Formats: sequence, C-alpha cells, structure tokens
Amino acid sequence: MNTKPLNAEQSPHILVLGMGGTIAGLAPNPEVNPLAYEAGQIEIGDLLTKIEQMFPQGLRIISRQIANINSSNLSESLLTELGEQVKKALASSTLIGIVITHGTDTIEESGIFLQATCGKYAEKLGKRVVLTGAMLPSNAAGADGPENLLNAIQWAYTAIDNCPGGVFAVFAGKVCMARDLAKRHSSALAAPLLDSPSSSVSLINPSWLSTVRAAQAVLVDDLPIPQVQEWPWVEILTSHAGARADLVQLCINAGVRGLVLAGTGQGGFNKAWQDSVNQAIAAGVAIVRATRTGAGIVRPNIPAQDPEGCIAAGSLSPPKARIVLQLALNAAKVSQAEAESFRPRWQDYFALQTY
Ligand code: SIN
Repeated sequence: MNTKPLNAEQSPHILVLGMGGTIAGLAPNPEVNPLAYEAGQIEIGDLLTKIEQMFPQGLRIISRQIANINSSNLSESLLTELGEQVKKALASSTLIGIVITHGTDTIEESGIFLQATCGKYAEKLGKRVVLTGAMLPSNAAGADGPENLLNAIQWAYTAIDNCPGGVFAVFAGKVCMARDLAKRHSSALAAPLLDSPSSSVSLINPSWLSTVRAAQAVLVDDLPIPQVQEWPWVEILTSHAGARADLVQLCINAGVRGLVLAGTGQGGFNKAWQDSVNQAIAAGVAIVRATRTGAGIVRPNIPAQDPEGCIAAGSLSPPKARIVLQLALNAAKVSQAEAESFRPRWQDYFALQTY
C-alpha cells in the first residue's frame, strides 16, 4: 500500500478518503461494552494497513485524511472540502475510483450531496465514488469496518461493464446508490441501507442495476458545490402534537433562507403553523414539505394544495431534502449571477433531484 499524497501519484490507483466515524472508532473496553466508544480515533492509513494483505493483486491504494470526526458534527464547510477533493481527484486520468470512509450518522447527507454535485461527472467518466463506514468500532470483536472497506474498494474497482460509474455506498455486503442511503436503525450492521434498494456487492442484481440506470437517466446535471461561505441557512422543523407557530416565527426572524417541514404522514403539518408558513413564503423563505415517517413519497398538492414557494420533497427524507434545498438555493443564486436570459428558480433545481 502507498499513502503518498495524490499529486505524487502517476500510476492507476484507488483513492481512499478518511472522514472518521465508527469505522475509525475505539472503545475503551470493547469486550464489556463495544457500543461505548469514541468515533474518529484511527487514521485512514492505519485502517488500510490492517487489510492490505487482502487487496486485489497489484492494486495501488492511496489514502488521504480529510477529517476524523464523529459525523454528527459534520459541517457544511467539510462538505465543500469533500466535494472539491472528490471532483479534483475524479479529473485525474490515473484515478480508478474513490472510497470514502464516513460516520454512518450523517452518511445520507454526504451521500445525497456527492450524488447531486459529482454524480453525473463520475458517471460520465465511468468512475465510482463509494461511501462506506461501520456500526462497530474498530477494536470490537466482529468489527464490520474491515469487510465494509474491502467491499467498497472492490466496488470501486469492479469492471465498468458490470455497473456504470456514479456515487454508491457499500455496507454489510450490499451496495446502493448513495442517494438511497437511509440510516433507519440505531445499531443493525446494515443500518445505513437496511431498507434501501440494493444489490449484493459480489453478485449484481440485474433489476437493481436497471433502477440505477433509470435514476441516472433522470438526474441530468450536477449542481454546483457551494463555496464555504455561500451555504444558505436551512432548518428542519418537525410537525408534532402541540406544534407551535413560535418556532416558525423564530426562524423567519433569524433570517433562515429555507425550511424543510418534516410533516406527518404524507407531509401535512399542524394547522397551528399555517399562518406562519404563509408569512415565511411571503418573506421569501423557501419551503419544502417532507415526511417524518421515514419512508414513502411526499407528492405535490397532497394532502393540501401547495402555495407558490412551497414544494414537495418527493422521495427525499428531511435531512436529504435539506441538503438538496441548500444546493438548489445556491444553484439559483449562481445562475442569477451568470445567466442573462434564462434564470431557473430554486424550485426548478430542487424538482430535478426528487424523482
Ligand atoms: C458517526 O457517525 O461518526 C458515528 C456513528 C457511526 O459511524 O456509526
């Protein structure tokens, strides 16, 4: 294995980017309590050293540490850094593919971000960006990180004839599109893709592959990566019994640019919010209706007519809808600064991501 910086590399290689997470975690007392641990303790180079004997013969691996955090602390500036590094690396003619080790708590946010900003580029180049992580810390008995990392490297390396380029995620022997990641279990080993459309890594399911191709046909253009200081402020508010308008008012007064309403059922919300949501729209705050149920689609104008300035999240969960809304608001701003004639609105960019 070689862990020299990327720009020193002139031969075909897989780049592994370390972001931290449980895969890099250490438990002080793993035999007694493997679930009491600190995420983001081990360097990516050391994680790779533990499995290097199992790399495919002759495969060159380069690693780079971007961060070593518990992903619950993921920031927008880190997303910008990750996206820029991925784009730059993809452009290298000697790069075969990229693997990213990431905490599972917010992996779906990085997944949708990379899919929306780098997915088309990776697909056109015929290269794969593969997210992975672990549910058990690196020193626990039966730690899932090493196998996930090996499988992710294998997926990044799988012949392009077998599956197109793009942004994927690998856990517990399964692969899904990164946009389909959804951590819906607190501890199961396959938690980030338990209920996602997926295939076995080693035996590709043709019907899953056709859903990948269909999704890629719909996702036409990558959205720009926001500059660090350009991420618009977007919050998620959850509707619930006894929901109060005050929280919506606080957000408007504080200057948020967008709100994702994690609604009940099909994306409806407590009527106590209605007047404040109308005020938010009148003040230019972008509103997205999603569902707090954890699965299913939120459709336009159901359960009630959507006013102008409010859009349904489709299949996007509230955290994913939040990232897409930020990217859509940024894209609309960038296009306003650039285009003279045709100026898409944030709704136009958002809708393209909600198939
Ligand atoms: C994290 O997201 O960094 C901690 C939890 C995990 O990786 O499973």
